[in-house]
Amino acid sequence: MAELTPRTLAVVGAGLMGAGIAQVAATAGWQVTMRDVTDEALKRGLDGIRKSLGKFVEKGRLSAQEAEAAVARIRTTTDLEAAAADASFVVEAVFERIEVKHEVFRELDRFCRDDAVLATNTSAIPITKIASVTARPESVVGTHFFSPVPMMALCELVRGHRTSDETLARAREFAESVGKTCVVVNRDVAGFVTTRLISALVVEAVRLVESGVASPEDIDIACKLGFGHAMGPLATTDLTGVDVLRHATANIWEETADPKFFPPELLTRMVEAGELGRKSGRGFYSYDG
Ligand SMILES: NC(=O)c1ccc[n+]([C@@H]2O[C@H](COP(=O)([O-])OP(=O)(O)OC[C@H]3O[C@@H](n4cnc5c(N)ncnc54)[C@H](O)[C@@H]3O)[C@@H](O)[C@H]2O)c1
Repeated sequence: MAELTPRTLAVVGAGLMGAGIAQVAATAGWQVTMRDVTDEALKRGLDGIRKSLGKFVEKGRLSAQEAEAAVARIRTTTDLEAAAADASFVVEAVFERIEVKHEVFRELDRFCRDDAVLATNTSAIPITKIASVTARPESVVGTHFFSPVPMMALCELVRGHRTSDETLARAREFAESVGKTCVVVNRDVAGFVTTRLISALVVEAVRLVESGVASPEDIDIACKLGFGHAMGPLATTDLTGVDVLRHATANIWEETADPKFFPPELLTRMVEAGELGRKSGRGFYSYDG
């Protein structure tokens, strides 16, 4: 398939995922505009990108000039119209809340070029539901990247109920252009493939902890040494965010009514207590100091 021309990307949301997606795209030569609601969030995102690129340079995986050129390809703005107007491809990576995503997609539908692909990095919300507020559901697709984006090789491509073949093909082309390997989710089931799998494992792991069957350490060791997982489910939850996993699980449960996905009480209480994992210094493990 022909190269996308021009390779102009808008990333909406400069958090952990948005900044990571902006980084890999800029490194691969895309002109990127990153949009967030405040200058502070944009600065945080850009600082994170500089730091991550610095590590690639230290490890000799990127030259200092390449890292500088990547940063120079990233523009930041709080104005969604300015970010969206020129983009051939848009990735939304705002909070995992349907009302926030709907607000963004309504605006993208107004401001984007007719031929733009509108992708969402949602972990678990159906693509069809996100696309429903636009007049172009055929152009909406899920591009589910993994954290940390510069290190993780997978992109899960998710077809909404109305996503066109061309949109899916362009999403694959985008993800492969930034160095990712794609898997395709053919039906828009809640949680897709990866979030369903990790949610089922995390829910069971948390239930085993809360019923006193085993400690978080032992559950993680069992998965690592018994199944060859690189990281146990509870360490993964801490890394991803206890709140993020609870949300993802609750979304799947709401959609499927499958009790397997009902968020365990311990997960809910941890979120209420602010034990969100690494980002708060405490989750299933402690990260003080
Ligand atoms: N964290 C993960 O491991 C992970 C993995 C895969 C997918 N995701 C998904 O990616 C998305 C983003 O997650 P994250 O971890 O980067 O979240 P985050 O909280 O780090 O960042 C979200 C950013 O969105 C910004 N934002 C909120 N409303 C906005 C708007 N209207 N316009 C522009 N920016 C807005 C916030 O200011 C914040 O900077 C979510 O849908 C999440 O489910 C997360």
